[in-house]
Amino acid sequence: MNRKIAVIVGSLRKDSFNRKLAKALIAAAPAGLDFSFVEIGDLPFFNQDLEAAPPASWTRFRNELKAADAVLFVTAEYNRSVPGVLKNAIDVGSRPYGQSVFNGKPAAVLSSSMGAIGGFGANHHLRQSLAFLNMPTLPNEAYIGAAHTLFDDAGALTNDGTRQFLGQFATAFAAWIEANAPARAA
Ligand code: FNR
Repeated sequence: MNRKIAVIVGSLRKDSFNRKLAKALIAAAPAGLDFSFVEIGDLPFFNQDLEAAPPASWTRFRNELKAADAVLFVTAEYNRSVPGVLKNAIDVGSRPYGQSVFNGKPAAVLSSSMGAIGGFGANHHLRQSLAFLNMPTLPNEAYIGAAHTLFDDAGALTNDGTRQFLGQFATAFAAWIEANAPARAA
């Protein structure tokens, strides 16, 4: 049975390089992985008071995560950290207390930016949250710099080295999921 992977992109921009990279990773991934994007742009800021009647988008987001075996984060870096919209999504998914939709799910983190260090700061700040969320996180590092040079006008990846890297990263994630995801009934 294929593994279901929720893909969360830490950028809302229509032409986001991170979203393009996520699509390129999916195209380069081995068989056996079903990816679906889980959108985060419509989630109201987390406020515990709203739990009395949770916004429909919170419930939609939580249900989509619950249905996934693993989570792939592909994120931009804002001011050397995680974009606020992604941090908010993590906060929404982590509550109510004791009902986190992230608990125990294997994760992988890919970051990219137009700069030279490829979102290293966001990548590692995100890893700090994933440790708290009890998500076994693929140790492989993936920082994609100069993201604006990697795509053609139609948004397709033009760099073969990056394509190869993304394929290897996805293959490593597939093995990581099998090693770390809870066993499933056949
Ligand atoms: C940035 N950018 C950026 N780049 C970087 O390498 N390190 C950083 O700390 C920041 N900080 C930052 C803050 C804010 C508010 C913005 C809007 C941008 C530039 C960033 O890498 C660039 O906008 C990317 O294009 C963002 O990724 P997406 O949206 O293309 O996926």
